Amino acid sequence: MKIEPAAALVGDVAVPGTKSITHRALLLGAIAEGESEIRNFGRAGDTESTISAVRALGIDVLEDDVDRVRVRGVGLRGLRVPGEPIDCGNAGTLMRLLAGVLVGQEGTFVLTGDESLSSRPMERIAEPLRQMGARVETTDGHAPVTLHGGAALRPISYELPVASAQVKSCVLLAGLYAQAGPTVVVERGAQTRDHTERLLQLQGARVQSSPRQASVWPVERLAPFSIDVPGDFSSAAPLIVAATLLAGSELRIHDVNLNPTRTGLLDVLERMGARVAVFNRRTLAGEPAGDLDVRSAELTATAVKPAEVPRLIDELPMFALAAGMARGESRVEGAQELRAKESDRIETVTNSLKAVGIRISARQDGFGVRGVATRPKGGGMGSAGDHRLAMLGAVAGLVSREGVELKDAEAVAISFPGFFDLLESVTRR
Ligand code: S3P
Repeated sequence: MKIEPAAALVGDVAVPGTKSITHRALLLGAIAEGESEIRNFGRAGDTESTISAVRALGIDVLEDDVDRVRVRGVGLRGLRVPGEPIDCGNAGTLMRLLAGVLVGQEGTFVLTGDESLSSRPMERIAEPLRQMGARVETTDGHAPVTLHGGAALRPISYELPVASAQVKSCVLLAGLYAQAGPTVVVERGAQTRDHTERLLQLQGARVQSSPRQASVWPVERLAPFSIDVPGDFSSAAPLIVAATLLAGSELRIHDVNLNPTRTGLLDVLERMGARVAVFNRRTLAGEPAGDLDVRSAELTATAVKPAEVPRLIDELPMFALAAGMARGESRVEGAQELRAKESDRIETVTNSLKAVGIRISARQDGFGVRGVATRPKGGGMGSAGDHRLAMLGAVAGLVSREGVELKDAEAVAISFPGFFDLLESVTRR
């Protein structure tokens, strides 16, 4: 599809519910005692995979509306062994978090995924689960992952070898089943997203969470919940960057999740000179949320340091584009985790942005960008099946001089199926 250059983004929008919270709400709703309701459900390819997965485990999921879903929880140990492997599709969060829940169930479970997910590292969850006493097998470190549940689990104190909320969450969820005492996850670098800790707290679990460590105590039961999921900051990010880069933009994005473990992009953009104001701060689903007002601005270069990386891990592709249009040299360090995402995002981001005229070079652990403070020429790029790359191509097209021919644009549906329609509704040409 061809993305034509735009003059500005103007208007009011809301983005779908946070994907990370939606996955967790389905999984934790499934093991609660009673019915939970999830409003502003983040409907997308990944969360459809989670609906199918919990259904395969014997859970009733009632889809009252596209964005209103009820889950009939069967209690902590009530999941049923399905007759076939559970297909996690493209969703790393689903595979890694579900593993933590399944080691607490009786029976053997097999988790599979698509080609991208099957190439992503799974020993990172198998290892701590084994330390807790679970029997877990990976296939050369990857999916299919086989979990033999029902063994007595013991609590551990686990220092994360990589900054990953998925690994942290997997261990904490298994900790719900580990007798007797707290399971502790220590984070050496910056704190990764804490959505699991917050939702468990809403459900009455004993959880302690700080920037350095998270602890969970075994529970007898989890309470059901009724939540309004705030909009996904990662889905707002392409809009924030596009509105910042297009002169004359005035865009408001409503009901956005502003969990501080997720909003690193706002801090980085602010020191580059961006004009993003937050108003109507409130709490939704036990999470900070608010409305954003984004005005266009001229940006100057900055360096993203390793300690900041977890707070904008999924927004680094968008940062690279913003840096390409800033004045001066920017760089990202300590972001080797980008290589383990839906694609190797150091390679795919560098190659894609180069192809549209951005001066960017790959490093082992990030990238360097020479910003030119003008629109890039444009050109052709593909998403490599990675939703964040497809959104990057769309924004690159809007801010370019000649537009971008984007291949495999439909990959956006993994996290944000209505992305192109919503973008079009606020684009001024
Ligand atoms: C996620 C955690 C991050 C992030 C992913 C969603 C989550 O992955 O990149 O998109 O919901 O916990 P890691 O935990 O592997 O860094």
